[in-house]
Amino acid sequence: MTTFSRGLENVMAAETALSDVDGAGGRLVIAGDNVETLAARGGFEDVAAALWNAAGLPSMSGAGVRAALGKARSDSFARLPGLGDALEASDGMDALRAAVAHIPPSGRLAEDAIAASGAMAVFAAAWARRRAGLPPVAPEPAAAHAADVLRMVTGEAPSPACVRGLDRYLKTVSDHGMNASTFAARVVASTGSDVVSAITAAIGALKGPLHGGAPGPVLDMLEAIGTPECAEAWLTAELAAGRRIMGMGHRVYRVRDPRAAVLERAIADLEAELGSSAGRLPLARAVERTATALLRKRHPDRPLGANVEFYTAVLLDAVGLSRTLFSPTFAIGRVAGWTAHVAEQLRTGRLIRPASRYTGTVPA
Ligand code: COA
Repeated sequence: MTTFSRGLENVMAAETALSDVDGAGGRLVIAGDNVETLAARGGFEDVAAALWNAAGLPSMSGAGVRAALGKARSDSFARLPGLGDALEASDGMDALRAAVAHIPPSGRLAEDAIAASGAMAVFAAAWARRRAGLPPVAPEPAAAHAADVLRMVTGEAPSPACVRGLDRYLKTVSDHGMNASTFAARVVASTGSDVVSAITAAIGALKGPLHGGAPGPVLDMLEAIGTPECAEAWLTAELAAGRRIMGMGHRVYRVRDPRAAVLERAIADLEAELGSSAGRLPLARAVERTATALLRKRHPDRPLGANVEFYTAVLLDAVGLSRTLFSPTFAIGRVAGWTAHVAEQLRTGRLIRPASRYTGTVPA
C-alpha cells in the first residue's frame, strides 16, 4: 500500500542514532545530549567525535578529532592551487560545492569524513579572502577549528569571545535529524556512492533559502527595519506582499526552535563579553516578537516561531563574519552531521528509492 506525502512530511526515511528533533516539545538531542548542554560545554571537535562515534566510525576523542581536523585543514590548504576556478564563484555555496568536489575520495569513511570537514573550513575562508582581493591564510593545525576558521577568514588572531561564539554556533548546527541536506547526503550514500559525492549534494541542498540560505536575508531584514518601532509596519507590508519572513517557521517545530534560544543566549554572552552596547540583539528580539505575533494572527492553527537562522544571522555578524559567509559557515558545522549520516546510511546497505504518482497521460 503506497501512501502519498507532499514534501515527505511525517515520513520516517531512516533510523538514526545521531540526533532527534521533537517538533512538538521543542527539544533537540544530538548524539545523546540536549542541544543546550552541548552548546554550553566542550568544543565543536567533541561534538564531531560524538557524532562520528555514534555513527560507528573508529572511536576518536575530541582531542583526536582536533588533531585530525588540524591536519585535514593543512592538507586542504595544500590543495588550493589545484582547485582551478572553483573559488572564483560569486556565491560561497557554489564555490564550496565546486571546491569540495575536487577532494579525491579515499574510500575510507573516517578519513574522507575528516578530509571533507577540514576542507569545508579552508575552502570557505579562502573563498571569502579571494572575494576581498586578499591571499588565503594558512591554517594553524594545532588550533581549535572555530578559532582557525576566524583566523583564516580575517588574517588576525580572533578574540576568545568571538571564538566561543562561533564554536557554540558550530556545535548547535552540527546535526538536525532528517533535514533536506542530510537527506540528500543519505540518498547519495544509499546508492553505494562515496562520502565526497554525498557531501557535494548536501551543499547543493543547504544553499536554498528554505534551508540554509536564510540567515543572510535575515540580516538584510533587520537592517531594512532599522529600529524596533518600525518592525510592525515593515513586517505587515512584507506579509501583505505575499513574502515569507526569513528566519521564521519550520517544517518540524511547532514551538520556537530550541536552537534559536541557544544562539540568542550566545549572542547575549558575546555582546556582554565584548562590552558592546551597539549590538543587534535588542532589535532582533523586538522583530522576533512582532513577527511571531503577526504570524499567529495570520495562521492561528499553524504556530510559526523563530528558527535557527533568525539568530544565526545576528551571532555570525557579531563574531565578525560577513553575510556572504553565513551559509558556508553553516556547512562548516553541519558537515560533521552529514558525514556521520553517510556512514550510518552506508552501513544499512539499503537504497533510498521512493515512488512517485504519475500525473501525465498514458497511451490509449
Ligand atoms: N513567513 C510567512 N509565512 C510563513 C512562513 C514565514 N516564514 N513560514 C510558513 N509560512 C506560512 C506558509 O506561507 C503557509 O501558508 P499558507 O498555508 O497560507 O500557504 C503556512 O505558513 C504553512 O507553511 P508551510 O509552507 O506548510 O511550511 P513548510 O513546512 O513547508 O515550511 C519553512 C517550512 C522553513 C520552509 C518555512 O517556514 C519558510 O519558508 N520559512 C522562511 C525561510 C527560513 O527561515 N528558512 C530556514 C529554515 S531553518
